[in-house]
Formats: sequence, structure tokens, C-alpha cells
Amino acid sequence: MDVLEAIKGRRSIRAFKSQNVTAEIIKKLIDAARWAPSAGNIQPWEFVIVQKPEIKRALAEAALGQTFIEEAPIVIVVCANENRSSQGYGIRGKTLYCIQDTAAAIQNIHLVAYALGLGTCWVGAFREEEAREILKIPQGIRPVAIIPVGYSAESPSPPSRRPMNQIVHYETFEVETFP
Ligand SMILES: Cc1cc2nc3c(=O)[nH]c(=O)nc-3n(C[C@H](O)[C@H](O)[C@H](O)COP(=O)(O)O)c2cc1C
Repeated sequence: MDVLEAIKGRRSIRAFKSQNVTAEIIKKLIDAARWAPSAGNIQPWEFVIVQKPEIKRALAEAALGQTFIEEAPIVIVVCANENRSSQGYGIRGKTLYCIQDTAAAIQNIHLVAYALGLGTCWVGAFREEEAREILKIPQGIRPVAIIPVGYSAESPSPPSRRPMNQIVHYETFEVETFP
């Protein structure tokens, strides 16, 4: 699939069929994630693959009751390894680079999932400490996103995007014109 087609066609999916997602597909998603760019190629990402219904349910609860998370056959929790990034880049590594790096990996998962005919949603609203306890995530590793993955049971319309002329600034921030 053309990359622009994937970028524009991907939607957040919040309803899933019960159809299973194979181990081979999960492998492809994680492989795509690990090819994301990262500061100094530190690759500060960790992935927890969740299939057990009781763990998915607990995650949905930690995510403020977003029950579609437990509907998905697979849930990937993407974590940032703050320790790895801070060893390379100190406080900037811990507070910024490891989040940017994992965000790039997360986007790769969304795009490749879409290209493989799957639906995903980037879930960022969750009680972090609760998710950490559920998944037994050690200190220094920060859960960044919960991604339910499955075959879509909905086809949402694309939400609007801010127009170019509002978001592009020419030469300095004051000038908002785009040809
Ligand atoms: C950092 C981040 C956090 C998000 N958290 C949630 C969330 O907790 N629950 C949810 O349903 N969608 C969440 N979303 C998905 C957005 O609502 C969605 O991307 C946005 O509305 C645009 O729709 P689209 O993804 O279909 O283009 C999140 C997206 C991002 C990037």
C-alpha cells in the first residue's frame, strides 16, 4: 500500500470483530515498530502483548472504562524505556526523546496494521500507575500507549484536520501563510 494512502486512510477503530489476530501478524507489527527512528538509535521501546481476557479487562478499566480495549483480540502496550534514553541523553532523553521514539514506533504499528487490513486505536487516556501494576512494569519503564488491535467492526468517517494555513508558519512563527 502507498504510504500516503495508509496515512490518510487509517482511522481510530473502537469496535472489533471476534476474529483472531495471528502470531505472524503481531510479529509484523512489532517488526515495523522497531524500524522507527530513535534518538541516537537507542531504541528505547518495549512492547507488552496482551491476549488474556482478564488482563485486557483490567487495562480497559485502567483506561477509564474504554471497554473497546477488551473487545480486541490483541492489545499491545507500548512502553518507553526511560533508563536507556537517560543513559544516552540525560534528562532530555528521559523526558523527551524516549517519548518521541516510542510515538514513532506506535505510528508504525498503526500504519502497518491498517495496511494489513486491521483496525487499531491509540489509547493514551489511562491511569499510568494502574497499568504499571497490571502489567508488572518495572520503574524506569513508562507505559505510553495502549493499542487494541483487531479486525474492524466499524468504518468511521475521517475527523477533520486543521487547515494548512493555520498550522504552517513561514520563516518565523508570526507568519501564517502557505501557498
Ligand atoms: C496521544 C493520543 C492519545 C489518544 N488517546 C485516545 C484515547 O484514550 N481513547 C480514544 O478513543 N482515542 C484516543 N486517541 C485517538 C484520537 O482520538 C484520534 O486519533 C483522533 O480523534 C483523530 O482520529 P483518527 O485517528 O481516526 O484520524 C488518542 C490519540 C493520540 C495521538
